[in-house]
Amino acid sequence: MSNLTNSNTWNALKNHQNQIRKFSLRDLFQDPNRFLDFSIESDDFLIDYSKNIINKQTMNLLFKLANESKILDKIQDMFSAKKINWTEKRSVLHTALRDKSKTQTLINNKDIKSDIRESLNKIRIFSNKVRDGVWKGSTGKKIKDIVNIGIGGSDLGPKMVCEALSYYNDGPSIHFVSNIDASDISETLKKINPEETLFLIASKTFTTQETMTNADTAKSWIKEALGNSSVSKHFAAMSTNIPAVVKFGINKSNIFTFWDYVGGRYSTWSSIGLSIAISIGYERFNQFLIGGYEMDCHFRESDLDKNLPVILALIGIWYNNFFKTETHAILPYDHYLSKFSAHIQQLDMESNGKNIDNNNSVIDYTTGPIIWGQPGTNGQHAFYQLIHQGTKLIPCDFIGFKKSLNPIGDHHDKLMANFFAQTKALAFGQTKQEVIKGLSSKDFKDPDINQLIPHKIFTGNRPTNTILINKLTPKSLGKLLALYEHKVFVQGIIWRINSFDQWGVELGKNLAKDILNSMTKNDLSRNDSSTSGLLKRYKNY
Ligand code: F6P
Repeated sequence: MSNLTNSNTWNALKNHQNQIRKFSLRDLFQDPNRFLDFSIESDDFLIDYSKNIINKQTMNLLFKLANESKILDKIQDMFSAKKINWTEKRSVLHTALRDKSKTQTLINNKDIKSDIRESLNKIRIFSNKVRDGVWKGSTGKKIKDIVNIGIGGSDLGPKMVCEALSYYNDGPSIHFVSNIDASDISETLKKINPEETLFLIASKTFTTQETMTNADTAKSWIKEALGNSSVSKHFAAMSTNIPAVVKFGINKSNIFTFWDYVGGRYSTWSSIGLSIAISIGYERFNQFLIGGYEMDCHFRESDLDKNLPVILALIGIWYNNFFKTETHAILPYDHYLSKFSAHIQQLDMESNGKNIDNNNSVIDYTTGPIIWGQPGTNGQHAFYQLIHQGTKLIPCDFIGFKKSLNPIGDHHDKLMANFFAQTKALAFGQTKQEVIKGLSSKDFKDPDINQLIPHKIFTGNRPTNTILINKLTPKSLGKLLALYEHKVFVQGIIWRINSFDQWGVELGKNLAKDILNSMTKNDLSRNDSSTSGLLKRYKNY
């Protein structure tokens, strides 16, 4: 048994779960103060976690677990540049990218904040030039379309933010190409004119197969249309690997760098966010950074029982480890956030999908959940049936805004009525008596009623967090994203794993290279019988 599962607090939580699971949320809500006891308002954010299967004892035990994991020390370790990504010997300092304080952040006695300021200044100047039409393509035309070519963290984050803030877009149109499937880039190239297009090649390593293949295709397309010398006016890159970018043929002055202390899935705040600055303007991009910084301050300064990321993390652990739930749904009630769950999926699953702990031992408890989700109202007509009446318990985060960016008629009230109704239905369900009452009032007669009753019962007791934010702005989006980043970090601390490496993506990448090699050499039989059987049929078609 590991120290964690052997600890008194872990066992106390197990025993406590055995008791509290006998209570329903209807029982727990007999306490009229429950909402006030289990919700936090912090500036423009309200998190209501009262519709969870918890009471004060649950939270006290979870806070004890957090304290025993030395959460506050570990937070300090991250912000003070300790190499907490120890398997890659790196500090974890995406927070420094959005740090608006005057405090230095030292790595090897050098303040990294001056490099960060310089990089932000370069983003500001360049994004202004492109937006103002000062930056021109090789034939003298203004840039109308930006194509970000990247994958994983070099795609999902900026794509999510550009879409989430598309209401504020007043610059060129932004497109994203990520898939190595040629259909992705082909469909994008159909929509754009080479003379008016700027490609941003986003890759931390500048070696990722998907990105380099798409970048080569884009370069050939530009060269074919505008000639070999046009590359410098139609390509820029964001990367930590300057020599590789130069080798690709991009001018040094068009390279936006960042550093190895910024993980791919945390890189939206770095020059990887250049597409965001071009889309909404540097000032708004900076507001997004300020939002992230405000959440960092809240995270560092708030007591655990008032700390939004800590509370979300502990509640996640409560279900994951003590109710043995497998998944966690993220359900934004805002059309602009339609890519939010996809980004959090990478953030969470690539960070905490680990089975070896920081002592190099195999873990005997479950770690990161499967994260999934879609915008809520669409989900209601698709997969909510299973959340309400399926056999699996699925904790959900409901994210909504008090004010709509498009206040037309009663759209927003209707949207938000659904938002509030769903968490109510999930928590309290519908009893047999309520079903009978409802059916009788609609003139249903026996035996129809008896047959229908079990189908129309909702057990309730299905847990949700509600995150209610004043308005979707660059700043509130920055806060929301940083909230989830820190939630994932806290969970990783409690699970005693390194949330900042991603060795699990390597094997497939290496095997793909081997297989491509064996396909090129037509030497298919050196694989297992399934793989070579499949390869032969693929090649023979
Ligand atoms: O495959 C995983 C990964 O390494 C992610 O962590 C990263 O965001 C993505 O690939 C892209 O990597 P790069 O930015 O180096 O192209």
